[in-house]
Amino acid sequence: MSFTIAIDGPAASGKGTIARQLAAHFGFAHLDTGLLYRAVGRQMLLGVPPLEAAQGLDVTGLDAQALRGPEVAQAASKVAALPEVRAALVDVQRAFARRSGGAVLDGRDIGTVICPEAEAKLFVIAGAEVRAERRWRELVASGHEVTQDEVLADVLARDARDMNRADAPLKPAEDAVTLDTSKMAIADAVAEAIAIVERAGASG
Ligand code: DC
Repeated sequence: MSFTIAIDGPAASGKGTIARQLAAHFGFAHLDTGLLYRAVGRQMLLGVPPLEAAQGLDVTGLDAQALRGPEVAQAASKVAALPEVRAALVDVQRAFARRSGGAVLDGRDIGTVICPEAEAKLFVIAGAEVRAERRWRELVASGHEVTQDEVLADVLARDARDMNRADAPLKPAEDAVTLDTSKMAIADAVAEAIAIVERAGASG
């Protein structure tokens, strides 16, 4: 059986948490596709040409902790605007999506470009201020020294770049269900996401 859940949305909308918890609930594998772009972005910061980094990426060995910082996030958003980098990462994402046993992928273009045939599609949003506060808390908790204003500026810059690029911009697929988590507790957002996926035909 293969069943794909596609989750897209802007930075810190809650999509990662929802993706992880959906995967746990349904017993599906989870791929945070932002990590692929972050890994390429980090390589670029170290001087490796982005296309070379994308082509040589070992997707099984990604260290999420090392890829979390704001510098890497901005670099990721920049390399993600390069069509050849995106093209180099398509096959690995599609292969993951079609693995047997079900898969959850979260990112920016999963429902529109990577898995237009996904059985369930969610577009997770939240207000920019809410997202910036969430991301700031996460960054501070993991030892980064940043102000809330810096994080808001970072989130807005990435939103603009991710939504306005020509290739695979961030936008909802026509058949995606939008979930606004601005005023929702995590548990409620996850429960709502589970209900949406069950209506799309998954059982868990
Ligand atoms: O989800 P994230 O914040 O870890 O993603 C980092 C950057 O990678 C994001 O600003 C845009 C890019 N990205 C993308 O273009 N397409 C994806 N499917 C996932 C991430």
